[in-house]
Amino acid sequence: MSDVKNLDSTYVASTYARFPLTIVKGEGSYAYDENGKQYIDLGSGIAVNLFGYSDPVWKKAVTDQLDAVAHTSNLYYTGPCAKLAEALCKRTGMKKVFYCNSGAEANECAIKAARKYGAEHKGADYYTIVTLVNSFHGRTLTTLAATGQDHFHELFQPLTQGFVHTEADDIDALEKAVKENRCCGIMIECVQGEGGVKALSKEFVQAVRRICDENDLIMICDEVQCGNGRTGKLYAVENYEVLPDVMTTAKGIGGGLPIGITMLGEKVSDIFHPGDNGSTFGGNPAVCAGALSNLNRIDEDLLNEVKEKSEYIFHELEGMNGVKSVSGMGLMIGVEPMNQKAGDAAKKCLDNGVMVLTAGGNKVRLLPALNIPMDVLKQGIEVLKDALKEE
Ligand SMILES: Cc1ncc(COP(=O)(O)O)c(C=O)c1O
Repeated sequence: MSDVKNLDSTYVASTYARFPLTIVKGEGSYAYDENGKQYIDLGSGIAVNLFGYSDPVWKKAVTDQLDAVAHTSNLYYTGPCAKLAEALCKRTGMKKVFYCNSGAEANECAIKAARKYGAEHKGADYYTIVTLVNSFHGRTLTTLAATGQDHFHELFQPLTQGFVHTEADDIDALEKAVKENRCCGIMIECVQGEGGVKALSKEFVQAVRRICDENDLIMICDEVQCGNGRTGKLYAVENYEVLPDVMTTAKGIGGGLPIGITMLGEKVSDIFHPGDNGSTFGGNPAVCAGALSNLNRIDEDLLNEVKEKSEYIFHELEGMNGVKSVSGMGLMIGVEPMNQKAGDAAKKCLDNGVMVLTAGGNKVRLLPALNIPMDVLKQGIEVLKDALKEE
């Protein structure tokens, strides 16, 4: 075992089952290990490296701001924080933005917004939020409670109260849960990521909007993984032609530095007052400068590129020998092997120089950089096809 692997196994808490690989360098969609072996990365740091590793445009935006001022605290105004908020609101129809450092924190803030709205408009006991079975909303005790996967809950009881889970795409079950509980909101991932790379149906997402309107509930879209251009729209919910009341994002918009963003729509734009929420690093100017640069590059040309690459991947894999199903949207794709474990297929890919991820439901998960060159993507997909095909 190399020094790094030894040190890591000895001193880093064992919360991750790591692949046996130490990454020492990354450039575009290529990563390099300690022996100089090159890998095509079809996971992009779990949907983070939106424009690949060490993207020069993002790096310049961040380093220019580092040279000017790296951190001030939220007691003072900074340009990148305000400008990113303006750009996000103008492009999404949301009205205000809260900054933090991760997807889980962004969801915590969304939950606080919905609960405060429920308490102020309906009563203190209207705090329940309906989320979906197989959802994933984060690792804090509250976002774990929101996460509709029981295996994450064991051994961490008691979790935060006030979450019920219903099956994805089951409108009747959702209406029943809203009727039977004193609710303040419904939270969904339009394309479930960790839970199995499953796009919700249009009928269901539009029903979520209707049920929220009929019951004065806050509709929250968790766009931590499916947002920021990944599905071929800036935010995945645009594919469903509804506007939520709250949207959360993280991962890709930061492009490699930690950020969490809770976007507040009209209904909750003024829900928070000084002291209601806060974060030491939230809105950090260097991180926001990089995020603004990323956001400005998610334009129609890039989104069309995402759709073209998506069509190519679906075309190559759907119905292929060794593939049971292909799911997802845009460059967020789940591939279910016919007769092998997704983890075994991922290992074969890695041995052959391609990094892929896995997800629930025995899926190989693909989340390549949005700007991955077509020839590099094709090479990566050929390796994946080899790993999936049956003799
Ligand atoms: C949909 C979704 N929500 C929330 C999270 C949590 O984000 P973070 O790990 O940044 O806290 C994730 C992470 O994978 C996610 O995919």
